[in-house]
Amino acid sequence: MNTPPLRCEFLGFELHTPIVLASGIIGTSAALLVRAAQSGAGMVTAKSCGPRPRVGHPNPVAFDFGGGLINAIGLTNPGAKAEAALLAEAKAQLAPLGVPLIASIFGGTVSEFGTAAQIVAASEPDLLEVNISCPNVGDEFGTPFAGAVESAAAVTEAVRGAVSCPISIKLAPNVPDIARIAAAVVEAGADAITAINTMPGMVIDPVSSRPLLYNRVGGISGPALKPIALRCVYEIAQVVSVPIIGTGGVSTGQDAAEMLMAGASVVGVGSAVYYRGVAALGEIGQELAEFMACHQWPSVAALRGRSHRET
Ligand SMILES: Cc1cc2nc3c(=O)[nH]c(=O)nc-3n(C[C@H](O)[C@H](O)[C@H](O)COP(=O)(O)O)c2cc1C
Repeated sequence: MNTPPLRCEFLGFELHTPIVLASGIIGTSAALLVRAAQSGAGMVTAKSCGPRPRVGHPNPVAFDFGGGLINAIGLTNPGAKAEAALLAEAKAQLAPLGVPLIASIFGGTVSEFGTAAQIVAASEPDLLEVNISCPNVGDEFGTPFAGAVESAAAVTEAVRGAVSCPISIKLAPNVPDIARIAAAVVEAGADAITAINTMPGMVIDPVSSRPLLYNRVGGISGPALKPIALRCVYEIAQVVSVPIIGTGGVSTGQDAAEMLMAGASVVGVGSAVYYRGVAALGEIGQELAEFMACHQWPSVAALRGRSHRET
């Protein structure tokens, strides 16, 4: 079969595929980020880091419940300074592969976001993703900043003022109107939107009668998240014109096509790496190309937003 090219454009970067390694899955070292790129990712996202090192939650922190994964890792990270060194090493190795590097930051306050952004930006990532939506640290940080227009916009403004590289704000699905929040962060200076982070959930061990995760509540990802992610991306695409990194439950090339049709410019893949191994990043791209050939889609750009058309 003559498969169409997966080449596409994102914020001025020429990507060889729209498949992007999502944050937190394996992006914890330069070697793993490079491995994801060599396995077929068009861009790679590092795990989120905050201004200071964090140990995260005690075990158990993740569980495969059948319909997907639930995790409450608790933002384990080495802190922005060590992360910047890791990112600089990764960037040097990714540049010759033509794979842009996405750094990811979080903070407990608006000003901490600015601080983490500034430290990490020294490593010159191609894009800075701002994780305002982690659902697993509520005990310490309270409601995620992604929960309200005002807090989401305030973080965006702080990060916009702290760095000169492009920024993407990562939104949460568990809000009444994600489109309003997307519009507000774009108004506040976001160059792109990443949608979505995990959806809060719980798994109970029926024998012990206790929640299975140490943190009790965790974030749902994988197949169970896909219809929620598609709806979020669809609604966001109706109100903003910045590119969207559509993320949530993409496990196959056909899932990736659906995400593009909903309005994503590129497609984040996380849990599928757990299910299928790191080779999934290249395989999902190959499956997408085969799907496009089979249904006569000439390019990734042609798929983008097609679900919004009447005919
Ligand atoms: C184990 C695990 C750790 C994660 N860590 C992060 C993180 O550090 N920062 C972040 O923005 N998202 C994190 N996420 C969320 C993913 O980046 C992604 O948004 C979510 O899992 C939905 O995509 P998926 O269904 O393809 O996994 C994590 C997800 C998982 C499963």
